[in-house]
Amino acid sequence: MCGIVGYIGTKKAVPVLINGLLSLEYRGYDSAGIAVLENDLIKVVKDKGRVKNLQDNPEIDKILGNIGIAHTRWATHGEPSKVNSHPHLDNSGKFSVVHNGIIENYSILRQKLIDNGYKLLSETDTEVIPNLIHMNYNGNILEAVSKTVKELEGSFAIEVISPLHPDEIIIVKKDSPLVVGVGENENYIASDIPAILAYTSNFYFVGENEIGVIKDDSITFYDVNLNEIKKELKSIEWDAVSSEKNGYEDFMLKEIYEQPKAVRETIGQRMSSDKVKLGLDDVDFSKFNRMYIVACGTAMHAGLASKYAFEKFCKIPTEIDMASEFRYRDPLIDNQTLCIFISQSGETADTIAALKLAKEKGATTIAVVNVIDSSITRVADHTIYTHAGPEIAVASTKAYTCQVVLLNILAANIAELLGNTSDELNDFKQSILALPDKLKEVLDTDEIMKSYAEKNYMKKDLFFVGRGADYAVSLEGSLKLKEISYIHSDAYASGELKHGPIALIEKDTPIIGCATNPSIAAKTISNLEEAISRGGNALLVTNQEIHNDKISDIVTIPDIHPMLSPVLSVVPLQLFAYHIAKFKKLDVDKPRNLAKSVTVE
Ligand code: G6P
Repeated sequence: MCGIVGYIGTKKAVPVLINGLLSLEYRGYDSAGIAVLENDLIKVVKDKGRVKNLQDNPEIDKILGNIGIAHTRWATHGEPSKVNSHPHLDNSGKFSVVHNGIIENYSILRQKLIDNGYKLLSETDTEVIPNLIHMNYNGNILEAVSKTVKELEGSFAIEVISPLHPDEIIIVKKDSPLVVGVGENENYIASDIPAILAYTSNFYFVGENEIGVIKDDSITFYDVNLNEIKKELKSIEWDAVSSEKNGYEDFMLKEIYEQPKAVRETIGQRMSSDKVKLGLDDVDFSKFNRMYIVACGTAMHAGLASKYAFEKFCKIPTEIDMASEFRYRDPLIDNQTLCIFISQSGETADTIAALKLAKEKGATTIAVVNVIDSSITRVADHTIYTHAGPEIAVASTKAYTCQVVLLNILAANIAELLGNTSDELNDFKQSILALPDKLKEVLDTDEIMKSYAEKNYMKKDLFFVGRGADYAVSLEGSLKLKEISYIHSDAYASGELKHGPIALIEKDTPIIGCATNPSIAAKTISNLEEAISRGGNALLVTNQEIHNDKISDIVTIPDIHPMLSPVLSVVPLQLFAYHIAKFKKLDVDKPRNLAKSVTVE
């Protein structure tokens, strides 16, 4: 986690750095800082708190230099405090470093530095880096950085500036994202594209163990042994406006409302003709006898919601796993195993580690990712992209719906390649094409979800129930609520309610049911009634015609193929969580303790 930005050029660096940090706050926001080269000095301003505090610091306006690095932090080693904030300086004050990632062997390196007379002032892992660079420095900063990174274990995206080399920023990356944006007589560096999208649409994606020397008029990349390497410059179609709030009060609300468009773009040309096209025609799917879908958080819920289509249409037994569990449970994998990894950011450490494990064991791997050229895409055998556009709010909404849609398209594609020509598969594909318009309709549930939120925002506990794909959606609804409203909630397969959780239902406990599959909807409704009989107050999200005066609120959503209903039924739950958080006057886009991209284990 953490976000880093860099600028070198003719403009004043501070505004570019602050703008970049503001858009990277989703990666962490407990402290922020900048370091700028000015008159042979490194000027550092940093403190705990949000980027806004940094922006309001009177010292910041006095800094006029044109070369700088900046950081917004999500603490890993050491509490949020001024001394633990980045940038960090070495003892001589000649090297300043910002770092995203974790240095796993920092205790050993710390001791080595102490043994060599260095004093470490903070509790961070990062502070070892500028001091090691100083220790390895012999007049050549590039050599010093190369020598230093060979000593580091863990993950890092690093920027280094020094008044001894006043016309360059040195960068290096391993397992944490880093892009270089190319301008005219100026260049930009950031953890993620949106931070610098306002200035350029041409990017270099820094690869594993690559070192870059960024000057205002040149960019040169090297491998870790300092052999020069040529990299391809890529143009990104995202427009800067899509990274802004565009009139919405919060990014989350904007992203909820962007879902019809995002899903339309994810479907794109892939489903326009009779055949599904995902560029996977060369894969021999007939050899797979087992499939795993692996991811974290919301992306894992997208896997749970999509499992049914793989089993139904492809007839491949499919297991869903959390990446953090999968990698340590010695899963049964061989070359007849297909593993699908889902990630919005493409940078989640647990997911990357699980992917590497699957590859080592001989599986074929497919990544479902939103961020172009992110780390996961470089490891997986095949990548298919959701086209959700930049997702800024920490709580994922449009990335989830696009993941569910793309996974279902993938299931249809594999089924076709395996020779499935059934009418049911054809109907299913037609239903996928209908999703963008139905998503527009489902946004009309906003008012009713807002009024249900108003009734319940002071509650301490809340429950979500459903069966099958509706259970998967319940898990996601519950996660959304926890993430942004800090209300405790749990999701249960509704048939399980009576086996324990029903003991928690008391007068007025809110319970949200989701029932969209005609073959099992009635069973979920009976389970809701069991809760109502014990005092619970129920809201039901359904596409069935229900006449039930015991359920206090019924939210009707458009009808769709039951396996695709998670794409629609999640929307009222996203809106519910959003309005609860707004009634509680919370920061919807940046919930406490969370970060959007979790690049540590
Ligand atoms: C973090 C975020 C979640 C997200 C998960 C997976 O925990 O807070 O919102 O679902 O990471 O992220 P990914 O980028 O891999 O989809």
